[in-house]
Amino acid sequence: MNRFEKIKLDLRAHPRRWLITGCAGFIGSNLLESLLGLDQNVVGIDNFATGNQSNLNEVEALVGPEKWARFDLIIGDIRDIDSCRRAVKGVDYVLHQAALGSVPRSIEDPVTTNAVNLTGFLNILAAAREAGNPPFVYAASSAVYGDHPDLPKREDRTGNQLSPYAVTKYANELYAGVFSRCYSLHATGLRYFNVFGKRQDPNGPYAAVIPKWIASMIRGEQVTINGDGMTSRDFCFVDNVVQANLLAAICNGEPRSRVYNVAVGDITTLNQLHDYLSAILLAHGVTIPRQPRYGVYRQGDVLHSQADISRARRELGYAPAVRVQAGLEAAMPWYLERFRRPDETATASSPDRRTLMPGRSSQPRVHSTIFGQAGLDRGANGAA
Ligand SMILES: NC(=O)c1ccc[n+]([C@@H]2O[C@H](COP(=O)([O-])OP(=O)(O)OC[C@H]3O[C@@H](n4cnc5c(N)ncnc54)[C@H](O)[C@@H]3O)[C@@H](O)[C@H]2O)c1
Repeated sequence: MNRFEKIKLDLRAHPRRWLITGCAGFIGSNLLESLLGLDQNVVGIDNFATGNQSNLNEVEALVGPEKWARFDLIIGDIRDIDSCRRAVKGVDYVLHQAALGSVPRSIEDPVTTNAVNLTGFLNILAAAREAGNPPFVYAASSAVYGDHPDLPKREDRTGNQLSPYAVTKYANELYAGVFSRCYSLHATGLRYFNVFGKRQDPNGPYAAVIPKWIASMIRGEQVTINGDGMTSRDFCFVDNVVQANLLAAICNGEPRSRVYNVAVGDITTLNQLHDYLSAILLAHGVTIPRQPRYGVYRQGDVLHSQADISRARRELGYAPAVRVQAGLEAAMPWYLERFRRPDETATASSPDRRTLMPGRSSQPRVHSTIFGQAGLDRGANGAA
């Protein structure tokens, strides 16, 4: 039995209390689903800036009422230290996911990205320290590699960061190191590489390539490839990310700060990705009427990205179980259910969005909120 299987058995036998920041987002809601599935107690904090309540509704439907009762939601903003203090109170582990993702967003608005990704990060870190230093796992990013030319990317070789987003993620690592050295916090940064899977938002100008393309292809729209299509990525299915978080949280040994690449170690060009998606959709009866259009490269994007995951394998026991094509096949039914019919293409994160779970309540189940009813309204409208 591998380390991950052992950890899951132990967690089921001895449930713990976890904090997931950004619990209504893509990765956060997948973590929530997995932890509740393992009978864990979870508190989540989110301000619905980019996450949405339909993700929480979906997790509720998947895990059922008994497990869902183990979840407490705080609608709050990590830029507010008191909300962070409230969130970390009494938790055994912190999985910090809340941030404003997207390189282009950060280039357009570096100030807000910095406030959420850096001040918010520091708030959660400081609150964790005050709460007795529960093991702290945080979402780092492959963006920290910037213009370093080496492939595959190794944790100890970073270049110049190419966007404000990358700077915030790099500064997170510096702060985690300092909190480890000054206050004995056990902090683990997971440098995610292009994560994909169900509940990743396909809408809006900052959508990631996989959900954006799938939604466009299902709708019969032409896909635009930035550049010549030879740009490559190490796409990582979200289940691998969930595994890495649990492995990193259940850590042994001295307080320290470490960072790990979390990916598969594969390399996929955008042209290949387009081919994979077309083939999978065809197998589901969806034909792709148009060839992709080639556009300009995006500012701040690196050309190639591939992870060396040997450190995570060696030190965490990380063993990514799902490779890119299998992950795309696993994620596809979720997108098909939402985008196959024209009346199911409502924007998930726009103010007037509908719930993506037909017949379900459009309000998240809120056990506690710092904003009272006003907070519920803010959440429902996706306001930051
Ligand atoms: N998805 C990827 O490919 C990828 C790659 C590298 C790193 N990451 C990092 O992983 C984490 C999760 O990313 P994701 O893809 O799930 O994004 P997401 O946008 O789906 O989730 C982020 C969540 O954080 C919440 N949030 C944002 N600002 C907040 C604030 N001020 N207070 C409270 N909550 C707030 C959002 O509402 C959302 O629910 C982020 O830190 C991101 O930078 C993601």
